[in-house]
Amino acid sequence: MLLENRTALVTGGAGRIGRAIADVFLREGAAVVMADLDGKRVAKAAAELGAEYPGKVAWTAGDQSKPEDAARFVTEAEEKLGLPDILANAHGIFPNCPLVDVTVEEWDSVFNVNVRGTMLTCQTLARRWIDARVKGAIINISSGAAKSGRPGGAHYSGSKAAVDALTHVFAIELGPHGIRVNAIAPGLILDNVITEESDDLHPYVNLTLKGTPIGRTGSPYDIAEAAAFLASERSGWTTGAILEVTGGTHTGRTHMPTTRQLR
Ligand SMILES: NC(=O)c1ccc[n+]([C@@H]2O[C@H](COP(=O)([O-])OP(=O)(O)OC[C@H]3O[C@@H](n4cnc5c(N)ncnc54)[C@H](O)[C@@H]3O)[C@@H](O)[C@H]2O)c1
Repeated sequence: MLLENRTALVTGGAGRIGRAIADVFLREGAAVVMADLDGKRVAKAAAELGAEYPGKVAWTAGDQSKPEDAARFVTEAEEKLGLPDILANAHGIFPNCPLVDVTVEEWDSVFNVNVRGTMLTCQTLARRWIDARVKGAIINISSGAAKSGRPGGAHYSGSKAAVDALTHVFAIELGPHGIRVNAIAPGLILDNVITEESDDLHPYVNLTLKGTPIGRTGSPYDIAEAAAFLASERSGWTTGAILEVTGGTHTGRTHMPTTRQLR
């Protein structure tokens, strides 16, 4: 097992990616505190996973973009299962709205949740880890959107580009303390893996499939397995990395023909 005797705080624990990360971390031997804005859903997810891993799952609820809630995630986690030495930031919001229509409120909410929320849990745990000499590991869930613009995604892409940047800076600042900070940039992750285009699907899904060399959408578990690697000592010399887990969509103009066909 990769994560025996470790404790993880997983934010967005009620979400599709956060829950899968919690599940894989548990399978790899860690204890997991799941945190989320949605108290009901995170309690239910924790109860379901806790039935499989008794005594190893706890939960907490709050708004991670608020400093007092982010701090409480950490203190409650410590009270319930001990000071976490892994942080997976898998919370987030992803509204889609053209620039000409976006309101300042929507703009700010995306940056508050995705960027400030990520910074706050990193900062709170980094302070505790430095004091307690814990060589922790942070995994931030970024997005392929950080480097690949799309219509309606100015605030979302901007927020995820910021997550990439703060991952780099935190890796520089925390590396001397033995703390590693990495990010995962997922491609399209749905609840169910889709392998074939169809008229019943949203055009976004069909177009994504066309541009995915591996030929399917991602599973939350594709991201969770990468997170387990980044949390473990197997990646002991990896910090400041943005790991693209996209089925290859990030590589370029993946569905273009070869240029020798140009005459
Ligand atoms: N699903 C994808 O295709 C995809 C692709 C790239 C990146 N991502 C990123 O992965 C992360 C998780 O996405 P997902 O698909 O699991 O989405 P999801 O909506 O299933 O889960 C996100 C979770 O974050 C929680 N959350 C939202 N605001 C919060 C706040 N202020 N405080 C605490 N928790 C809050 C939600 O309640 C939800 O449970 C997000 O950061 C998202 O941007 C997702």
